[in-house]
Amino acid sequence: IAQDKKWRIGFSQATTIEPWRAQFNKDIIAEAAKHPEVELIITDGEDKTEKQVADVENLIRQEVNALLISPKESAGLTGVVQQAIDAKIPVFVLDRNVETDQYTQFVGGDNKLIGRAAGEYAVELLGGKGKAHGNVVEIWGGMGTQPAHDRHDGFHEFTDKEPGIKNLLDQQSGDWKQDQAYNIMATALRNNEKIDLVYGHNDPMAYGAYLAAKDAGREKDIKFIGIDALPGEGVTWVNNGELTATFLYATPGAEGLRQAIKFLNGEKVEKTVTLDTMKVTKENAGQIMKEKGL
Ligand code: FRU
Repeated sequence: IAQDKKWRIGFSQATTIEPWRAQFNKDIIAEAAKHPEVELIITDGEDKTEKQVADVENLIRQEVNALLISPKESAGLTGVVQQAIDAKIPVFVLDRNVETDQYTQFVGGDNKLIGRAAGEYAVELLGGKGKAHGNVVEIWGGMGTQPAHDRHDGFHEFTDKEPGIKNLLDQQSGDWKQDQAYNIMATALRNNEKIDLVYGHNDPMAYGAYLAAKDAGREKDIKFIGIDALPGEGVTWVNNGELTATFLYATPGAEGLRQAIKFLNGEKVEKTVTLDTMKVTKENAGQIMKEKGL
């Protein structure tokens, strides 16, 4: 470790093949560049639980001063997070939770709230409270993740109150991937003459469903809602009229690292830091893109 590096911080990322995680890594690297006293070690779990477990074990062996982790799934990463905690390493859990609350801090978006906002908007798109009517396809993110469950639960708090809304699928997971969502939607289109709205637990899946509908010549009959709102992805797709809406799920890269540094410097940190969200529709998508230089 170089002389000027006071803190060695490890960040275990679940995967980098998903665009949102590539942005997440960019955000944490940009924040680290502002802190010359920090050496940041990033590992890539390659979307495999075993790989991510090995990564964390490695970071523990390297005696990092703090561990940041964005787990692929909750159950499979809980043990190794506990190992880090037992080794007295402060742990910052980012975006997807684990099954212990013994960590130092959780930083991420409020997925229940985002699910509720999506559900409320879906009801509005389908005719409004008490009158909403239509067939809904919901495409789940990874079943073993907290965000998928929270995004589901929040959405259904609104849509389940509407007797006119029918759910066409039962817990179909696209594992956050565009191509898997495409296949789920292609099957749903074959099996159902009428689909009115698709709720994808992230933008790549909402967009994959859109592409399947387009290939079937039915995209104009369907509204598509996603989550993430990356400027070059979801926001652009909304601006193009491909998705109807997306909800911002900010990456916790910069904030997570700032919080860890604050803690290492002896300051108190909150147990939970919740990142803001916002609804993105055709009304504000263009403006957001302009602000991001697109
Ligand atoms: C990326 C991602 C995002 C999603 C988040 C949920 O891996 O699937 O699209 O919002 O993870 O944890």
